[in-house]
Amino acid sequence: MTHYKLSADFKLPANPKPIVVIGAGGIMEEAHLPAYRKANWPVLGIYDLQLEKAQRVASLFGIPAVYDSLEALVSNVPPDVVFDIAVPASRLIDILNQLPLGANVMMQKPMGETLEAAKEILHICETKHFTASVNFQMKLIPSIIAAKHLINQGAIGDLHDMEIRMNIYHPWELWEFLFGIPRMEMLYHSIHYMDMIAYFLGMPKQIYAKTFQHPKQMQLASTRSIIIFDYDRPIRAFVNTNHGHDFGLDHQDSFVKWEGTKGAIKATLGKNINFPKGEADHFAYFLSDHSTDGWIEATIPGAWYPDAFIATMADLQCAIEDPTSAHITSVKHAYDTMRLVEAAYLSNDRGGTPLPD
Ligand SMILES: NC(=O)c1ccc[n+]([C@@H]2O[C@H](COP(=O)([O-])OP(=O)(O)OC[C@H]3O[C@@H](n4cnc5c(N)ncnc54)[C@H](O)[C@@H]3O)[C@@H](O)[C@H]2O)c1
Repeated sequence: MTHYKLSADFKLPANPKPIVVIGAGGIMEEAHLPAYRKANWPVLGIYDLQLEKAQRVASLFGIPAVYDSLEALVSNVPPDVVFDIAVPASRLIDILNQLPLGANVMMQKPMGETLEAAKEILHICETKHFTASVNFQMKLIPSIIAAKHLINQGAIGDLHDMEIRMNIYHPWELWEFLFGIPRMEMLYHSIHYMDMIAYFLGMPKQIYAKTFQHPKQMQLASTRSIIIFDYDRPIRAFVNTNHGHDFGLDHQDSFVKWEGTKGAIKATLGKNINFPKGEADHFAYFLSDHSTDGWIEATIPGAWYPDAFIATMADLQCAIEDPTSAHITSVKHAYDTMRLVEAAYLSNDRGGTPLPD
């Protein structure tokens, strides 16, 4: 057993480019900027539609320049910066159109609110020769990286089962822009899990999905989903989310479980429980060859916030340094994730099979 290396390592750039920030909202303050501070990466400037928000975040993180327009930011920063954008997805196209040719870009998920928007975003990135990523950072949470390393070493044999379960209570009122849009849970939340399943198992042939409202969250298009990935191999992979479990913490669940022909891994993502404060992560694995050991608990250093945000930025920075790098957060991969989301909504809209007479 000891010959399997348990590690959450990832490649760091040799010469990281400085970063400038567009959007000074919750995720920037809670995750992006703490990540860059922890990695010791310089952040040169910030812009938000709401100047006072940008000023507040700049003073919290010691960002030297606050701009009052996107134009001012673009024309005052060095040519090799990374533009880090965290705004509602509906604003992305407008911002990308204003960035210079050849820009380095990190944008928050989702990649637009429809597949059409994602197509346009991909087109802008290609025609303007951007090196661009979408911040699908869940697959780069330390415990998920550790699971990937174990699976790649063959520790659990052939992966044939992947379950992502979230039975949590989410304070959706933190994101005003989610109210009134036609697609919500699968587009803004389960999209991370869809991206992650495809990262481990590749693109499925088809998707079955149904997304549901919750009686206490009827102002939102949907807050519960079941999404099944259909592969032509003996593989079962699915997402099961309920964001309306408002019954204390005892039976909240937030985990990813992998089962292979020779073992299993379970990673609990504590951040989703008691969100946004979060609970501790847990990581455990079972190796059939060493079944007398039972489930082995391991401590994986680091946490989703902010470490996964270091890893996504590192992935982009490595792609800037070496265009042949894996670049697993690239807009091309992200476009495939948007195709999964589109398939999920189409499946939902088409409905199930009517009962036979
Ligand atoms: N784990 C994750 O990956 C994760 C978590 C939370 C949010 N997000 C994503 O991050 C994005 C932002 O979420 P948030 O929680 O920070 O939201 P938020 O509402 O807290 O902040 C959004 C900010 O964007 C600013 N903004 C809007 N349009 C702009 C524009 N055109 N130019 C400059 N600034 C503009 C707003 O003024 C606001 O300050 C969303 O797309 C969301 O899906 C991702």
